[in-house]
Amino acid sequence: MRIGILGATGPAGAGLAARLTSVGHQVLFGSRSLDKAEHAVAELQERWTERASGLIATDNEGACDAPIVILAVNADSVIPTVREHAEHLANKVVVSMANNLTRNGSEFNAVLPPHGSVAAEIQALLWRSRVVTAFHLVPAAEFADLDHTMESDVVVLGDDDEARSSVMEITASIPHLRALDGGSLRNAVGMETFAAVLLTINIRHKMKASLRLQTIN
Ligand SMILES: NC(=O)c1ccc[n+]([C@@H]2O[C@H](COP(=O)([O-])OP(=O)(O)OC[C@H]3O[C@@H](n4cnc5c(N)ncnc54)[C@H](OP(=O)(O)O)[C@@H]3O)[C@@H](O)[C@H]2O)c1
Repeated sequence: MRIGILGATGPAGAGLAARLTSVGHQVLFGSRSLDKAEHAVAELQERWTERASGLIATDNEGACDAPIVILAVNADSVIPTVREHAEHLANKVVVSMANNLTRNGSEFNAVLPPHGSVAAEIQALLWRSRVVTAFHLVPAAEFADLDHTMESDVVVLGDDDEARSSVMEITASIPHLRALDGGSLRNAVGMETFAAVLLTINIRHKMKASLRLQTIN
C-alpha cells in the first residue's frame, strides 16, 4: 500500500516509516523541508539497506499524495498542519497518533481541545477526510529499531468502518503488532488520556511499557 507520513523526520514518524516499508509498503516520507526528508531517508536506507528501500523523500504536501496519510508531526503542530494541508487531505484516510500532553512534576496529563480529543478536533477541521486514530502507545525508539521485536496492541478508532479496517490492516501487517478495534472517534479521548497514564507509570515505576491486553477466557 502507498502511505504518506507528515513529519516523518521525528522519532515516531521515522520508526513507523521504517517498519511500514520493511514489510513492503511504499512510504512517502514527508517533512516541511525536502532536504531534511532526503537526509533522514538516506540515513534510514544506510542503516537498514534494502529493508528501507520503499521510502520516498518528499515535503509534507507531497506526502498527502496517498490514500492513507499519517500525521506524525509533534502534537502541538498537528492542528496548524492539518489546516495548512486540508485541501490535499480531502477524501483521504487521515491517521492521528497525537498525544497532546503536558508534564506536571512526575505526572503527565492530556491537554484536550474543545471537541474533546485531538482526533475529534482534526475530524472537525477535515470534514472531507475520514479520520482514524492509531499508534498512540507505541514507543518510538524501540519501534525504530527494526531488529527489536516490538510486541504491542494498537487500538484503532474511527467513525468510518472501511477507513478503520484499512488502518487495522496496515497495522497488522507489521509483525507482532495486534490491531484492536476500539470503536468510534468518540473514544479517542480514552487513548489520548491513557497515553498520559502510561507515561506517568513509566516515570514512576522507572520502566518502559507498551500495551498488551490479555484475554481471560
Ligand atoms: N515519540 C513517541 O514515542 C510517540 C509515541 C506515540 C505517539 N506519538 C505521537 O507521534 C507524534 C510525533 O511524535 P515525535 O516524538 O516523533 O514528535 P517530534 O519529534 O517532536 O516531531 C515530529 C516532527 O514534527 C515536525 N514539526 C516540528 N515542529 C513543527 C511545526 N511547528 N509545524 C509542523 N511540523 C513540525 C518535525 O518535522 P519536520 O521538521 O521534518 O517538518 C518533527 O521531526 C506526536 O503527535 C506524538 O504525540 C509519539
